[in-house]
Amino acid sequence: MAFLELEALGKAYGGVEVLQDISIDLFRGEILGIIGPTGSGKTTLLRLVNLLEAPNSGSIRLEGLTLNDLTEKEKLSARRRMAMVFQKPVMFKGSVQENVSYGLKIRGKKDQKIVRSALEAVNLSGYESRDANTLSGGEMQRVALARALVLQPEILLLDEPVANLDPKSAAAIDRIVQSLVGQNTLVILATHNMLQCKRLASRVAVLMKGRLVAVGEPGEIFDRGQEQLLSEIAVPW
Ligand SMILES: Nc1ncnc2c1ncn2[C@@H]1O[C@H](COP(=O)(O)OP(=O)(O)OP(=O)(O)O)[C@@H](O)[C@H]1O
Ligand SMILES: [Mg+2]
Repeated sequence: MAFLELEALGKAYGGVEVLQDISIDLFRGEILGIIGPTGSGKTTLLRLVNLLEAPNSGSIRLEGLTLNDLTEKEKLSARRRMAMVFQKPVMFKGSVQENVSYGLKIRGKKDQKIVRSALEAVNLSGYESRDANTLSGGEMQRVALARALVLQPEILLLDEPVANLDPKSAAAIDRIVQSLVGQNTLVILATHNMLQCKRLASRVAVLMKGRLVAVGEPGEIFDRGQEQLLSEIAVPW
């Protein structure tokens, strides 16, 4: 049985279908890269998986449990198995330390060692007492990742995690994502960065106008035969 099963998922806003018939089985320890042009539905798909929104059709199953049917309380415990890093990171009021510890605190945990090592992993050691809302975009993005890492999620949803980052910070993120594979985490990574996708993903899903038009290993998706597809979806390659 797959760890996470998306079956015939559909989502519409105001009668406009932004996701249609999305079906894919995902496993622990894999990194699924989702690519596709702007507006193709990548963020919406991550939001559905994270149970921030409900699909209009289809189902999401986590270890065989259909998430759509759960009570709010059960949904909350399913959500606590996941963490999402948003495309536009939002900092809570307070210090970097407070931001990164937030999720642990609401789970009643106090382990500050894990906060230190998450900040170290994202190259933000020494930033603990800084006001999170005065950080640069790239720093905020890394705080958001650290905030997710301390939760040790079974599913990590990353929406454009390197969009605001310089090459050194982006490489640090790559290393973190790769290390999660060894911990059996399922990582779903929506990105416009083809090189990052090719480097990291164990499988690549191509979204176009809300539909999955191709799913395969990076070698299959990025090989010469697919140039036509990639150029059709306006993905620079
Ligand atoms: N809450 C919403 N209400 C109405 N339309 C929405 C909403 N959220 C997303 N959409 C629309 O759904 C479509 C898919 O949006 P989504 O943000 O998932 O795309 P994306 O692939 O993540 O794009 P990008 O690469 O620019 O981040 C877009 O046309 C968007 O305008
Ligand atoms: Mg998006």
